[in-house]
Amino acid sequence: MATTINSIDDLITPVVLLDRTRLDKNIRAMQDTCDAHGVGLWPHIKTHKMVEVARRQLAAGAQGLSCAKVGEAEAMLPSGVKRIFIAHSLVDVRVAPRLAALADQLDELRVAVTSVPHAEALVAVAVATDRNLEAVLAVNTGLNREGVRTVDEAKAVAAIIKRCPQLKLAAIYTHEGQMYGAKPEEQVVRANEIIAILEKFRAAIDPALPLWPGCSVTAKIMAASGKVQVVRPGAYMFGDMALAVSSKVMGPADVAIHVLVTVVDRPAPGLALIDAGSKVFSSDKSKAGLNGIAADGRDIQVVSLNEEHGYLGGGDVDTLKIGDRLQIMPAHVCTVINLTDTVTVVEGDRVVDQWCVDARGKVQ
Ligand SMILES: Cc1ncc(COP(=O)(O)O)c(C=O)c1O
Repeated sequence: MATTINSIDDLITPVVLLDRTRLDKNIRAMQDTCDAHGVGLWPHIKTHKMVEVARRQLAAGAQGLSCAKVGEAEAMLPSGVKRIFIAHSLVDVRVAPRLAALADQLDELRVAVTSVPHAEALVAVAVATDRNLEAVLAVNTGLNREGVRTVDEAKAVAAIIKRCPQLKLAAIYTHEGQMYGAKPEEQVVRANEIIAILEKFRAAIDPALPLWPGCSVTAKIMAASGKVQVVRPGAYMFGDMALAVSSKVMGPADVAIHVLVTVVDRPAPGLALIDAGSKVFSSDKSKAGLNGIAADGRDIQVVSLNEEHGYLGGGDVDTLKIGDRLQIMPAHVCTVINLTDTVTVVEGDRVVDQWCVDARGKVQ
């Protein structure tokens, strides 16, 4: 017998809830900051992976979308997106036909170039596409992942790109993910240090190149600096413990994703077990070593996980009994979304929709 679902009380747990009001507010706030400073917004869709969310970002004014993988970009096409930046080191010429098909459906396709060895590999991919692609040069600003390390390397990459008829160097980007480790009071100073690094590299290769940093911790600071042309944050429209508890760039009441869970056992004082483990939350932890916290502010934390169990601890845990349901703010939202086929869209306690995680598992 089909059951009508009107309220979150009707849902079987565990289930990922998306608060539509908070989502729209977060999208609007980032867009307003960018608009106020004449900065383009190319949100990274790796966090939400949903056509519905991309549509809302584009309708609010986003110029384009950033994606990690070709498969993510393909999955976002139904959003109506016309400009995509694939912010990952593409090396396999066998993706060329898919890139060419993407380019044919877009007004602009941008690809990352991330080092001298990568530039050589990218040229082969670009030649095989037989399309005009814009290359965006990655500069390492402290995460120590992709990105040129020295000005000489940047110049060498620029020279390789110049020799390739299919590629044109169009911007400089960085992912300043190390800023998740910065204290809130350090954020502005450290963001400005990152801008200074980007400016140094730009001066050495082409003073006309726009700067495209990308991280939710720094996005509003970067946009307000007047020194960058595009920002590419990913997690800002959902939020999680990393953004609301550690970095404090949003408040806990702005976090749009919660996991609704049920207490399934109380095996010992001070311990409650819930029906969601690492297959729901992923294994990612907050800076304080937690997988999540009670979203209603009670002193309840997800202190560890097995695959199908979460262990709750904290001062209020003994108030819980079997069957109690609670909403958990996850430590890291991106990996939670990638583990679910759909999210249940809510307005407060009312269930209003269900959205597909279209690019779930699109890692190729
Ligand atoms: C290349 C790149 N750009 C942008 C982002 C978005 O960063 P955030 O999730 O902090 O907003 C990421 C996140 O991993 C990234 O890897």
